[in-house]
Amino acid sequence: MILFISEAKNGFYVRDYEEKDFAGIYNVYKPAFSEEPWNEYKKCSSCKVNYGIKESNNSAENCKKCGKPLRLEDYWTEKDVNEDINYAKSKEWNSILVADSGGEILGFTWAYNISIEKDMNFLKGAQNIDSSKKIIYVDEVATAANSRGKGVATELEKKLFSKAENAGFGYVILRTDEKNTAAINLYKKLGFERLLYGVSENNGSKYAYDPEFNSRVYLVKKLLPNENIGGNSEGKL
Ligand SMILES: CC(C)(COP(=O)(O)OP(=O)(O)OC[C@H]1O[C@@H](n2cnc3c(N)ncnc32)[C@H](O)[C@@H]1OP(=O)(O)O)[C@@H](O)C(=O)NCCC(=O)NCCS
Ligand SMILES: [Zn+2]
Repeated sequence: MILFISEAKNGFYVRDYEEKDFAGIYNVYKPAFSEEPWNEYKKCSSCKVNYGIKESNNSAENCKKCGKPLRLEDYWTEKDVNEDINYAKSKEWNSILVADSGGEILGFTWAYNISIEKDMNFLKGAQNIDSSKKIIYVDEVATAANSRGKGVATELEKKLFSKAENAGFGYVILRTDEKNTAAINLYKKLGFERLLYGVSENNGSKYAYDPEFNSRVYLVKKLLPNENIGGNSEGKL
């Protein structure tokens, strides 16, 4: 099998994930999602609700959600991250990419094919997506804190989208958090807009939100060159 490799730029290049990269990915993954707005640093060992860094250090005696005596464990263990990667790999189409700088993993992303109907039924009826087209979902993207702002995430996503385009996908969707300025700016620059609902589903909002966390927003980007999403500009980021 020929692995995908991009040209080096800014001291790194983007390539397909290999098993040996796991430790490198985990080292970026764990701290990146411990930060705001994810706060996936620790979790209650009973109900698994997340605790951020500050919250873990000043936590109460009982869990904020289940009320049981609080016992915290790591939110993302190696096993969990490995399961996430294996989930992506189990999908019919998937791509896991890393940004490599002399063997050091600076960032990663992964995505796979989804069916709104089967995998994300609550997004049924979203307006600015033609669900007869093939769709990929970007599950993860992160850059190591000391390598941010150098275009690592931009390069990872561009490579990912061009692979998806070549495989005939029409849209990319992803979920992020409105409070995550870096991510919102990154996606805006990459040409994403908000996924619009045809009808108001959440507190009268016309945008697609995660039913569980209402600052988590769904974004969409049309693949295939020279085609705009069309319609009005309501979804602009
Ligand atoms: C979001 C994240 C992946 C961006 O990675 P990055 O490699 O630094 O991104 P890039 O260097 O490619 O930057 C792309 C654009 O994002 C925006 N951006 C990046 N960091 C930013 C910041 N700290 N503040 C505001 N905008 C920022 C800018 O618009 C930037 O474009 P510019 O450099 O032309 O101005 C990174 O901050 C991260 O890993 N965060 C934690 C994990 C996470 O939240 N992932 C997203 C999950 S949805
Ligand atoms: Zn709990």
